Amino acid sequence: MEKVCIYPGSFDPMTLGHLDIIQRACTLFDRVIVAVLHNPAKKGCFTVEERMEMIRAACAHLPQVEVAAFDGLLVDAVKKSGAHAVVRGLRAISDFESEKTMAQLNAELLPGMETLFMMTKPEHSHVSSSAVREIASFGGDFSRYVPACNVEKIRNHFE
Ligand code: PNS
Repeated sequence: MEKVCIYPGSFDPMTLGHLDIIQRACTLFDRVIVAVLHNPAKKGCFTVEERMEMIRAACAHLPQVEVAAFDGLLVDAVKKSGAHAVVRGLRAISDFESEKTMAQLNAELLPGMETLFMMTKPEHSHVSSSAVREIASFGGDFSRYVPACNVEKIRNHFE
């Protein structure tokens, strides 16, 4: 049976930390669906289409990766996509509390749904989309934190 996971997030924009998790998920699953979802706690910066484009460009070398956008609950995206597991990256202990709550709520909403946590590599543990947005918005050099193919698009957005 084909093993499929879904890697959900805001990806606003995608960072090298995200890309690392996707690449590692590709070694564990036959298919990895990178799902752009709305986080109600966050106001978007890039459009969903722009985020998907950037993810597609950065994952062009990974044939198992599919990029999709979903509205609503993650559990509904999991049902629709037929994924067997949800993958989330953990950067630090501070991520753990909210991720644990989300995994437990999701497992109640969709019994049997598994969330797998992958530790972010130490070199990416301080990297976040919000830091990239903040540095870029003030004209700073954010290029070491995002896939090279997306640097110009992000820079242009803030110019
Ligand atoms: O990259 P993020 O912002 O940490 O990703 C969070 C995301 C989008 C995965 C999360 O907010 C989410 O699953 N949103 C969809 C709504 C939902 O299902 N919420 C969880 C149930 S409590």
